[in-house]
Amino acid sequence: MHTYRAHPDVSVLADYLEVPGLGFLAVNAFVIHAAQPVVIDTGLGLPDRDFVASLAAVIDPPDVRWIWLTHPDRDHTGGLFALLGAAPQARVVTTFVGAGIMSAERPLPMDRIYLLNPGQSLDAGDRRLTGFRPPLFDNPATVGVLDTSNGVCLSSDCFGAPLPAATLATAQNTADVSPEELRAAQLLWATIDSPWVHTVDPAKFAASFRPLHDFGPSAILSTHLPPVTRDRTALFATLLDAPSASPVTGPDQAALEAMLRQFQPV
Ligand SMILES: [Fe+2]
Ligand SMILES: [Fe+2]
Repeated sequence: MHTYRAHPDVSVLADYLEVPGLGFLAVNAFVIHAAQPVVIDTGLGLPDRDFVASLAAVIDPPDVRWIWLTHPDRDHTGGLFALLGAAPQARVVTTFVGAGIMSAERPLPMDRIYLLNPGQSLDAGDRRLTGFRPPLFDNPATVGVLDTSNGVCLSSDCFGAPLPAATLATAQNTADVSPEELRAAQLLWATIDSPWVHTVDPAKFAASFRPLHDFGPSAILSTHLPPVTRDRTALFATLLDAPSASPVTGPDQAALEAMLRQFQPV
């Protein structure tokens, strides 16, 4: 994991996962350097990751006041409990459903929870952070973040894309990915992560993200894509095509066995 600033107010903790057959998927967490610092998601829980140690490169962990969990999928919760221990003032921003999902594995302490629904705002001291439902999501607890002080949008899984190399997945922007390649990879991710998108009414779907489009984000920071600070309108154009993109089915057992045979010594 490495860190960098995507915006004067936002640090990125950049990690990735290699997904066989798909490519390399960014797994980003963020720090909004507000008066009351906010960590957005807490990365992977793999044994060789130490989220709090990585976080310490950009902020003193005890200074963290809020841990905004965009949703409780395992690529977002890896460092959650370690950070709660390292940041005694911090409370977890999530939804009632998010807290419920967490309770099935390891309950969040009730006095460390702050429930926030899409449309509601968090006062981070020098700014208000407003929750919104991203256009695409894979978990009913998903709430993205709009920083109304600077226009930064943190979109959770939405806008993600597997890329052809780890260096691209952890890059500071998408400049080295062609627009065509990025569009195809985002549509692939949309169909995998949000397969329900094929069942939506395209007009209603387009209307669902019109407010985000009209907000005019200054930057779009996805947990699964390097930061996009230029040509953001292309991302919305790609979304419009998601309902009609080709559905993707993962490998079945026969395909898995065929892959494994390739690795057997001859
Ligand atoms: Fe997810
Ligand atoms: Fe995710």
